Amino acid sequence: MRIDIISLFPDMFAGPLGHSILKRAQDSGHIAVHVTNPRDFTYDKHHIADDYPFGGGSGMVMKPEPIFRAVENVVCTAKLTRRRIVLMCPGGQVFDQAKARELAGYEQLILVCGHYEGIDDRIRQYVVDEAVSIGDYVLTGGELPAMVITDAVARMLPGVLGADDGAQQDSFYNGLLEYPQYTRPRQFNGWEVPEVLLSGDHAKIERWRRKESLRTTLLRRPDLLAGMELSPLDHKLLEE
Ligand code: ADE
Repeated sequence: MRIDIISLFPDMFAGPLGHSILKRAQDSGHIAVHVTNPRDFTYDKHHIADDYPFGGGSGMVMKPEPIFRAVENVVCTAKLTRRRIVLMCPGGQVFDQAKARELAGYEQLILVCGHYEGIDDRIRQYVVDEAVSIGDYVLTGGELPAMVITDAVARMLPGVLGADDGAQQDSFYNGLLEYPQYTRPRQFNGWEVPEVLLSGDHAKIERWRRKESLRTTLLRRPDLLAGMELSPLDHKLLEE
């Protein structure tokens, strides 16, 4: 998958995307991340990418033409047909695991980062396919949301997490929160690892994990359980 990020602050991406799994995913060719600065698509002497809002008010608004040209440029460069243009915006649809899975199905993602007081709304109306928020709070720009989405989408791509099925097992994959994990030592500060995990009985371990997933979800995120169809065994585990 090719991920294009349109941002006035390309340097913000160099560190966060250059480590660990995301670095490996790029080195192995599972994802290619390109950051394009709309300022490079301004044609005036001072490379102005923002301007005062029509109608007055405080703050600056990002001009539409540099963003439009930057998007046009990455579309023409990539020549990929299955693409999605997504605006980072606190007023967008709230991002979740289902959206990450959906976006992972495209060949090219173009993530447009707003800054200042926002972007000229004609970009949202006529250029992007959708607007996405990473939560009900306002950040100073769309850069951190673009990183969050890049990470969540990349790890859904086959091969990115390696040979195991990590992305299939984790929280939200099946609508439940994850069961707790433990590693050595068996005893730490007198705190014990649950006995069942040391038993070597795989069926018993699977049952325990399912039960812990259900229990943790009921305790911390009952809203997630509300819309789910639980099996008779799940009901039994919850009652134990
Ligand atoms: N830009 C500013 N805040 C944001 C948020 N919560 N999600 C996406 N983009 C944003």
